[in-house]
Amino acid sequence: MAKLAIAGGEPVRRKPFPKWPIFDEREAKALLDVLNSGLWGIGGSKKREFEERFAKYQHAKYGVAVTSGTTALEISLKSLGIGCGDEVIVPSYTFMATAISVLYVNAIPVFADIDPETYNIDPKSVEQLISDRTKAILPVHIGGRPADMDALPSIAGKNELYIVEDACQAWGAEWRGRRVGAIGDIGSFSFQSSKNITSGEGGIIVTNNEELYIKAWSLHNCGRLPGKAWYEHYLPGANYRMTEFQAAILLAQMERFDRQTERRIENAQYLNNKLSKIDGVKPLKNDERITRHAYHLYIFRIEPEAFGGVSKATIAKALQAEGIPASVGYSKPLYKEPYIEYFRRCPLSCPYYGRQIDYSIVKAPVAERACYYEGLWLPQYVLLGSREDMDDIVAAFEKIKYNLEELYSYRETQDNY
Ligand SMILES: Cc1ncc(COP(=O)(O)O)c(C=O)c1O
Repeated sequence: MAKLAIAGGEPVRRKPFPKWPIFDEREAKALLDVLNSGLWGIGGSKKREFEERFAKYQHAKYGVAVTSGTTALEISLKSLGIGCGDEVIVPSYTFMATAISVLYVNAIPVFADIDPETYNIDPKSVEQLISDRTKAILPVHIGGRPADMDALPSIAGKNELYIVEDACQAWGAEWRGRRVGAIGDIGSFSFQSSKNITSGEGGIIVTNNEELYIKAWSLHNCGRLPGKAWYEHYLPGANYRMTEFQAAILLAQMERFDRQTERRIENAQYLNNKLSKIDGVKPLKNDERITRHAYHLYIFRIEPEAFGGVSKATIAKALQAEGIPASVGYSKPLYKEPYIEYFRRCPLSCPYYGRQIDYSIVKAPVAERACYYEGLWLPQYVLLGSREDMDDIVAAFEKIKYNLEELYSYRETQDNY
């Protein structure tokens, strides 16, 4: 009789993990309050209150709440004056928004490799890619794990580059006690529905630089400037303002955020300890400079040889069948995505740039290995479960590991789709 659930056996668990998003009467009341106030957009107080509260939470002076993490990145780049003819170094292992925000401001994303132990942008790769056109480094704190914020600012300082942090997965994450987002020049966060603090959609820009704040504020508000007339438009802005409803929900979400983060950290550390004992499962490296990990994703690596050479997709499917919502995560490096073709004429072949960029020759071997063979994810809400829930994850791995023959025969029929 089959043992593995993927082959028809009994799964390790049928119970669901905690549901996401989590909300209670606080969100309901906050929404009703805004509804009844009649001030759903401009004129309300919630957006301002959230901007101040969240910026302070991230150890930043200023915040500008916008429609999404993608628009936050785009406005951040524009605030720094990054555009035609400029290059921005981005990691190859990240969500597409990281690179498309660069293309949307008509600049060129240059793809760096990642560190095999952290899956964050590799400072050594960044250094090799700096050219006379480079204007900024755009590190992503992947899965809520801060990128190397010792090495990257040092490289930026030496080469007069800006640092634009993509902290869209990293609310409350800390590097040596400093919260991410405004360690560099400017940073972006997302509140899209899968995120650890969510209003369905939304984003925020944070910075400690007053001039950048005023520019970002203007760009998200039709180019207006604080203290000037409402029908005067100074910068090429548009309407990217967050609504009062979103801000009210986010204020309520923040009340339970620290407790949830502590729970995710405890469970992730427990999993790190247990999973590292299973041959072929490799949690990412511990780094003492990371004083708080936000755990938007629990990212870990597998060694396919230790699983009979099956693909990571097969392992993810086998875990799903056991009741564990594992996923393959990013399945190709960002420079291989078809959307890049859309930008072939401009900015990629723009005469103003004066160079030809050919992404077909880009190679980021570590990111490729992570995407194709090694990297697996568990979503953040799984880490809100109980100790027994974590034990089920470990049990599912052990079960797969001890039944490799079944897994292997499943592979023969399923790995080719
Ligand atoms: C790393 C990263 N950057 C940018 C974004 C874009 O955020 P949004 O979906 O709010 O536009 C996301 C979110 O999905 C992300 O994970």
